[in-house]
Amino acid sequence: MFFSARLPRKILFGRGRLESLPDALKELELGGKAILVTGRRFARKSGYLDKLCSLMKSAGVDVIIYDKVEPNPSIETVEMGGKIAREQGVNFVVGFGGGSAMDAAKGIAVLATHDGKLEDYFYPAEVKPPVLPIVAIATTCGTGSEVTKYAVFSKGIRKNVIASEQIVPVLSVLDAEVLRYLSKDITAHTAMDAFSHALESYYHVNSCEFSEIFVRDSIKMILEHFKNAVDGDIDSREKLLYASMLAGLAISLSGTIVVHGLGYYLTQKFGIPHGLANLLFIKQFIEYAAEKIPERTMSLGKLLELDASTPEGVSKILINKLNELSRYAGLPINLREAGIPESELSTIVDQGLSYKRNLDSCIRPPTAHELEEIVKKAF
Ligand SMILES: [Fe+2]
Repeated sequence: MFFSARLPRKILFGRGRLESLPDALKELELGGKAILVTGRRFARKSGYLDKLCSLMKSAGVDVIIYDKVEPNPSIETVEMGGKIAREQGVNFVVGFGGGSAMDAAKGIAVLATHDGKLEDYFYPAEVKPPVLPIVAIATTCGTGSEVTKYAVFSKGIRKNVIASEQIVPVLSVLDAEVLRYLSKDITAHTAMDAFSHALESYYHVNSCEFSEIFVRDSIKMILEHFKNAVDGDIDSREKLLYASMLAGLAISLSGTIVVHGLGYYLTQKFGIPHGLANLLFIKQFIEYAAEKIPERTMSLGKLLELDASTPEGVSKILINKLNELSRYAGLPINLREAGIPESELSTIVDQGLSYKRNLDSCIRPPTAHELEEIVKKAF
């Protein structure tokens, strides 16, 4: 077994842990000036923006607010944030929000210390140290970005990724109190993103015994707590927050594969939320895996303690469960229900094929023809 893992220096998990932010900032000696990166509405409307500013001030930190991050952050937004961070000479970057705000914070941390454009650091480029330290405070239960080495940015119909251990946050805060404000839809979508991270990680070439521990617990918890979490139960939402962190650790050790590669276009072209876009392909990937990667699928069944004696049995249990959860949360179960025109299927396949990093890191990558079958079945 081989693996390489950069983990946060500190993870604060639990209800009310946001209050420990000042102590953690002092302990980690991150410096006296920070840029707080967040979205345009939620932080201000919920009162969290004021709260964060006063917590940081109590740790002796001057705060510059950058509340300009849109869903699926654009390159321009991140470059502007990087310029401000550099001009203001901040010592560290705080991202407060879902994946978009945390990923924008990561991009800003890179640009604050590196010349050039954000695109210069997209995979496969390497990001050399130093990068400003990143504090990630998660407000959704899906992305896992608070613990990962990834940041995803939008450009036209493309998603681009920075993949570097340099952008793993030094401090991650997961306080489920903030999840009280999540809508049912966002809870369901983000949970499906976490499910997808865990499942894809298992079929990634770099999956290892260490990442599989996270995969097992993450998938079990999502399947068990999804319904109550969607209904607003805060204890269940806390379980999903934990599960999404675990799934983030799993992909930080391995990565996402073809499901993410296929989903990106749906988000960019049709505005389908990221987690939902993954859900729309994951069942067909599971079917594909049962047929083409049967041993691995059987071992996934064992890992999850599913009552199945064949790979098809494993896939049936997982797919039925995903359909049941989708129906419960009112999510579309196929591309047609999601409003995607049939005429788009060939473009979806081409776009999926173009995300080579995702495609090739599957332990048995689908051929072009097999990918076409996956997409057709997803319709
Ligand atoms: Fe994702």
